[in-house]
Amino acid sequence: MCGIVGYTGKKAAAPILINGLKRLEYRGYDSAGLAVTSPDGIFVEKAKGKVSELVNKLAEHGEDSPFHDSSSGIAHTRWATHGPPTTENAHPHASDRIALVHNGIIENYKALKANLVSQGYKFLSQTDTEVLALLVDSYYEGDILQAVTTALKDVEGTYGIACMSQDEPGVLIVARRGSPIVLGVGDGETIVASDASAIIKHTRQAIYLDDNDIAKIQGGDIDIMSLDSGIVSREASEIDWSPDAAEKGGYEHYMLKEIYEQPDAIENTIRGRMDMERGTAMLGGLGLSPRDMADLNRLVIVGCGTSLNAGLVGEFATEDFAGICAEVEQAAEFRYRNPIINSKDLVLAISQSGETADTLAAVREATDKGALVAGLVNVVGSTIARETGRGVYLHAGPEISVASTKAFTCQVATLLMVALKFARSRRMSVVNGRTFVQEIKNLPNLVKQVLAKEQQIAEVAERYVKYEKMFFIGRGYMYPVAMEGALKLKEISYIHAEGYHAAELKHGPIALLEESMPVVALALKGPGKEKTIGNIKECSARDARVLGIITEGDEEAKSEVDDFIEIPECRLHAAVVPATVALQLFAYHVARLRGCAIDQPRNLAKSVTVE
Ligand code: G6P
Repeated sequence: MCGIVGYTGKKAAAPILINGLKRLEYRGYDSAGLAVTSPDGIFVEKAKGKVSELVNKLAEHGEDSPFHDSSSGIAHTRWATHGPPTTENAHPHASDRIALVHNGIIENYKALKANLVSQGYKFLSQTDTEVLALLVDSYYEGDILQAVTTALKDVEGTYGIACMSQDEPGVLIVARRGSPIVLGVGDGETIVASDASAIIKHTRQAIYLDDNDIAKIQGGDIDIMSLDSGIVSREASEIDWSPDAAEKGGYEHYMLKEIYEQPDAIENTIRGRMDMERGTAMLGGLGLSPRDMADLNRLVIVGCGTSLNAGLVGEFATEDFAGICAEVEQAAEFRYRNPIINSKDLVLAISQSGETADTLAAVREATDKGALVAGLVNVVGSTIARETGRGVYLHAGPEISVASTKAFTCQVATLLMVALKFARSRRMSVVNGRTFVQEIKNLPNLVKQVLAKEQQIAEVAERYVKYEKMFFIGRGYMYPVAMEGALKLKEISYIHAEGYHAAELKHGPIALLEESMPVVALALKGPGKEKTIGNIKECSARDARVLGIITEGDEEAKSEVDDFIEIPECRLHAAVVPATVALQLFAYHVARLRGCAIDQPRNLAKSVTVE
């Protein structure tokens, strides 16, 4: 969840490291730091706050400082786990001869620390990372690779690290267990990072380390070993998105840019996967023939956050159209409650990043229990994609905004394709299959129609800026939309927003309704609409202001609500996508009007690699 960058080559390292940190700032941003090697030793600078604070501090060093001319270094942007976000706790952590940056959690850090203290080591921070840095120092006898290798054997927990020593300028040691490390292969240089967005400006050739890999890098020379089995070979692969995809491209925020990218992103998700003639979806990466699919008894979906909300849509659509039992579960819960799984289950792990610790753990648990496990992942080469070995890539392009938008709608498009494929392997006719294909192909068009209403949605948002709490309610397919709409609003505007099933409102939450608690009600035409209108009346009767997400031209629904946003008419499994886009824009404008840091909401991280 923190960001790591490292550089070794012929150029000045600091500007490359800072540029990389800015790319990774979306992953964590409570403090940042940088270390470079020079003939005079290791130089470290750190700052609390954003990367810009670190840049200001670096500017205070003179032109002739190593920060300006050193050609190797490591840097980090932090999302605090152990110890508050202070300069002392920021990475890199260093002794007078070793510097190290780290993502992940060293679980046995207390025991390791006690041992180091008994050897006379003094600690300046409260972090587990400083323990690892000093552990490496304690094993250092002039060979940094050897020292890191030995230290990592003592470590329990997860890590992605980059480390260097004063005596071996130009040498970086990187290693991973549970936290990603990617090596950008350049001409006589290597850029190391925790995610590809920090290297894409320099090279598209990427080597992804596997768990337990450790690499020694100097300039363009890369030697990769496994902690378990000596020298290993890892092929470079090409990053298939352009540097521009990771830029804001004229939008005020990444979130808005990504909201607008959705028509293209969904096109990319479904491209080449729709078979109109046979009325089905082609998802070769799942590695399942129609016969295999017909043989499966159950679809179990796991994920966290926005991916979990998308999973609910997958559950509903699979049961609805394919008649196969489906369930969705929070990934951490799945792992720890000892679920009943068998070989006739397909476990589908949904994760934009492909790195979420709980989802990864669920993948491993399902694999151990003998299920077929597939990933529905955006980031190519990510851990979940590689561990599942089968699945569907979203091809949504890089998602930088912490609040997920295009990943959700692409996940839903993919889950509809999965449901269709299951359905066609069972009872759905080719004619109905073709209708379904047409509906999926029309999703980008539906999104465009909602995007065209941005101005009107911004005006509606103005009327909701003043509230400090809000309910979102929906039924059936609109229930996950209510959950996702509430999640978006609370993440970026800090309004206390809760998504509820509309029928559940009466069983408790209704006690909170009053003038100061508005309700966003998803009341689109289709099954459940009349019941939701009944719930709207209950809200209005208790003085709550109601914003209706309604079907274009539905005068009856309009007459029941105080404000409305209209969605083009379509069946409800498809309406999930445009209705969510409307709520993304609503949340965005409420947060913008409240002056919030939309791309970097407090306390959040884009990819949660700790449990
Ligand atoms: C974090 C992010 C969310 C995301 C969730 C799951 O909480 O802030 O936006 O939905 O992780 O991430 P994943 O990459 O597994 O989809």
